[in-house]
Amino acid sequence: MTESPDVVLVVDFGAQYAQLIARRVREARVYSEIVRHDIGAPELMARRPKGIILSGGPQSVYAEWAPQIDPAIYDTGVPILGICYGAQLLTQQLGGTVTRTGRGEYGRTVLNRTGSSPLFADYPPTGPVDVWMSHGDSITEVPPGFVARASTAEAPVAVLEHAERRIHGVQFHPEVVHTDRGQALLERFLFDVCGARPLWTHTNIIESSVEEVRAQVGGARVLCALSGGVDSAVAAALVHRAVGDQLTCVFVDTGLMRSGEAEQVEETFRRQFHFDLIHVKAADRFFGVLKGVTEPEAKRKAIGETFIRVFEEVAADVEEARFLVQGTLYPDIIESGTADAATIKSHHNVGGLPEDMAFDLVEPLRLLFKDEVRAVGEELGLPEEIVWRQPFPGPGLAVRIIGEVTPERAEILRAADAVVLEEVRRAGLYRELWQSFAVLPAVRTVGVMGDARTYAYPIVIRAVTSDDAMTADWARLPFDLLERLSSRIINEVDGVNRVALDITSKPPGTIEWE
Ligand code: XMP
Repeated sequence: MTESPDVVLVVDFGAQYAQLIARRVREARVYSEIVRHDIGAPELMARRPKGIILSGGPQSVYAEWAPQIDPAIYDTGVPILGICYGAQLLTQQLGGTVTRTGRGEYGRTVLNRTGSSPLFADYPPTGPVDVWMSHGDSITEVPPGFVARASTAEAPVAVLEHAERRIHGVQFHPEVVHTDRGQALLERFLFDVCGARPLWTHTNIIESSVEEVRAQVGGARVLCALSGGVDSAVAAALVHRAVGDQLTCVFVDTGLMRSGEAEQVEETFRRQFHFDLIHVKAADRFFGVLKGVTEPEAKRKAIGETFIRVFEEVAADVEEARFLVQGTLYPDIIESGTADAATIKSHHNVGGLPEDMAFDLVEPLRLLFKDEVRAVGEELGLPEEIVWRQPFPGPGLAVRIIGEVTPERAEILRAADAVVLEEVRRAGLYRELWQSFAVLPAVRTVGVMGDARTYAYPIVIRAVTSDDAMTADWARLPFDLLERLSSRIINEVDGVNRVALDITSKPPGTIEWE
C-alpha cells in the first residue's frame, strides 16, 4: 500500500480563489481538497487535515450574506491560514476588528514587516516585499492574543498571527505569481507550521489511482471511449496500468477528427501500449446523419446521438462489461457544486455517453487538476502530442464547418487545420495557445490564381489564449506566422482562395464558431 498523503483543506468562499490555492498547495506536493464553507467543524475534522486554508472571496465580511465558517475550527488545534477574505473572517470571528476604511488596495503593494513570522522564513531578514492585494475592507485591530507582523500603506494589519494556536492571516494573495515568494510563504505554512509532508508526487498519484481502480473493478471488464484528447487518454492509460487486458477501449472515428488523429490513437494505444482497442470507422454513418443539417445545435444532437448508438452497439459485443471509464477532472466536480470528493456525481464528458447505460463509472482523474493530468500522462509515457493536445470539441470539425457538413468540406477544413497546427507548432506557440484552428465558412469569394478567376471558400484562422475557456482573448499571432499560414493554406488546400483572421474575444464571441 502507498502511504496516504497528508491533506490540507481549502475552504471555498466563492470565486476562483480556492482552486488556485489548492493547485499551489499541490505544487508543493501536499495533497489538497476544496471544501464548502458551510461544512461544520466535525465534518472538516473527519478528513484529518494537517492544515486548513481559508480562501479569499468576493464578499465583504459586512455583506448580508457574507459566507461564514463554523468558529469551532479555531479550537481544533489544526493550523489555519486565512488569506484575504479568510484573514478578515478569522479576525472578525475571533474578536478583532475589520473596518470599511473606504480605501482599498488592488494590485501590487509594498508589504512592510514589523516583526518576524514563521511564514517569512524564506524572505530576506529585512526590507520591503512586493505583494498582490485585492481588498476593500481592512483589518484594523487584531483579535485578543494575536500580533500584527506587517502592514501596507492602506492596511494597518497585513499579516497577523497567534503562534501558539498556529492561526495565521495574510491580507495579500500568496497564491498569485505577482506576490514575491508567495509560493515559499505557502510552503512555510504547509511544512513548518502544519508539518505536512510532500508526498503528493506523480508517482504516488499513479500508484494510489492504480490501487483504487483495482479495488473498485476487481476482475470485471471495463470499457473506455477514447477520444484522442488528453483526459480520456490518461484515464485509459491509468486504468490499463491497473487492470491490463480487462480494459477494452473504443475509438469511434467520426470522420470529423483532426488530421492524423486516428493514426495517433492506433500507434499509441495499440502498438505502443498493446491495448485491446476497437477502432470503429463510422465516418459514412456520421456524414449520413449530417446530410442537409446546418443548424449548430441540430448538428451537435445528430452527432451525439449517433455516437451513443455506435458505442452501444460496440459495447453490446464486449462480453460482461460492467464498468465505464470517464475522464472527469477535479474542477468538473468542484463546479458541479458537490465540492466533496466523497460524494462525486457522475459526469458524462467523454463523448456524451448516455446516463442510462448500465455501467458503474470509473473516474481515475476525479481528484486531479489539468496540469496534474498532463504530468501523470507524461509519467505514464504517453506521447507529447497527446499529453499537450489543445482542447477539441466533442462534435469535432463539424462545428467548424459552417453550413452543411460533407466529406469534401471536412477534407478541406482538415487540410487547412493541419497547416495551422503545423505552423503554430513550428513557431513554438502550440502550448501557449489555448486553441488554434481553422474554420470553414459557408460562403465563397472571388479570387485570381494565375490568369484564372477563382470562386472558392475562405478559411478563417482562430487562435485564442485562455485559462479555462470561460473567457478568451484572440491571440496576437506574429505577422510572419500569419503570412506563412495564408500562403500555405491557399497553395496547398484545394478549394480555398482566401485566408482571414478572427479577432474576436470571448465574450462577446465564443471560441468555436458554432
Ligand atoms: P465556446 O465555443 O463555447 O467553447 O467558447 C468553449 C470550449 O468548449 C469547447 N466546446 C465543446 N466541447 N462539445 C465539447 O466537448 C461541444 O459541443 C463543444 N462546443 C465547444 C470549445 O472547443 C472550447 O474549448
